[in-house]
Amino acid sequence: MALPPVFQKLRLPVIASPMFIISTPRLVIAQCTAGVVGSMPALNARPASQLDEWLAEITEALAAWDQAHPDQPAAPFAINQIVHKSNDRLEHDMQVCAKYKVPIVITSLGAREDVNQGVHAWGGVVMHDVINNVFAHKAIDKGADGLIPVAAGAGGHASVKSPFAMVQEIRQWFDGPLALSGAIASGGAILAAQAMGADLAYIGSAFIATHEARAVEGYKQMIVDSDSDGIVYSNFYTGIHGNYLKGSIRNAGMDPDHLPESDPSKMNFATGEGSNSAKAWRDIWGCGQGIGAITEVVGAGELVERLRREYQAARKRLLALA
Ligand SMILES: Cc1cc2nc3c(=O)[nH]c(=O)nc-3n(C[C@H](O)[C@H](O)[C@H](O)COP(=O)(O)O)c2cc1C
Repeated sequence: MALPPVFQKLRLPVIASPMFIISTPRLVIAQCTAGVVGSMPALNARPASQLDEWLAEITEALAAWDQAHPDQPAAPFAINQIVHKSNDRLEHDMQVCAKYKVPIVITSLGAREDVNQGVHAWGGVVMHDVINNVFAHKAIDKGADGLIPVAAGAGGHASVKSPFAMVQEIRQWFDGPLALSGAIASGGAILAAQAMGADLAYIGSAFIATHEARAVEGYKQMIVDSDSDGIVYSNFYTGIHGNYLKGSIRNAGMDPDHLPESDPSKMNFATGEGSNSAKAWRDIWGCGQGIGAITEVVGAGELVERLRREYQAARKRLLALA
């Protein structure tokens, strides 16, 4: 199936994924003007009234960019909605998204027909993130347009499934937009995601080590200094399993290799990505396994440029083999 028009303007087949605390208009604008979909969680805007200001800032900046660069228009942006019953801002945040006709809405943690219909009513596209094929079916049954399989090794909440397994299973019955998430941080990996059957790569952690990300310098530097050995998969902090930087857990006085199990019923998204989340995510740094490919803190545009160069080189290399 052809990709919806909203994805056809990208200069690299990438969605820069939404990250709790990290993504703000500054990062989103840098990502979109570099030619990839930029995104942020609605819940990063606090108080809730700030969402309106942020969407105004993003839409104005992208329109100004397009006027100044007609031959290199900005990619569209996406807003992430946590569709969990404990997110008591959802209705308000959806109304603000409707006001700005947000082009892409990324939904996580539960699929809801009314949310999908609301987005379609203003002409937007819904991508839903899933950790297995059962949730993928549910999301499409409830009217999502596309899927984001979040594979093993992804930053933040992630599954334990191989990306190959997830994409193969989903592609047996779904030919709509598919963005693969998990440990992608090089141009070759973007091409590999496409070779596997994905349309787009969904990249988070690599963007934490950029100047525009709202992360403290120690977090950015830990990403530069770490690789997959420095990541631990635990449900201790939010009730759902996710990947975190071991160094941040040690800095908080805990042993990352001996974390207790948590109780999933304690999940609460009233303030963001999980129970006691704002505090947990500020001190305990979410991060995927792909960060061995990150060797310096750069501007988001520079990161996209590197990915583009590597992507083209990988294509050339594979075409020469054909
Ligand atoms: C620090 C951090 C915060 C995240 N917050 C969110 C979030 O609020 N909503 C969401 O849908 N995904 C969130 N994610 C998951 C990402 O959107 C995406 O699935 C993941 O980063 C992709 O894997 P990668 O980090 O290995 O590239 C977060 C990831 C990280 C690293």
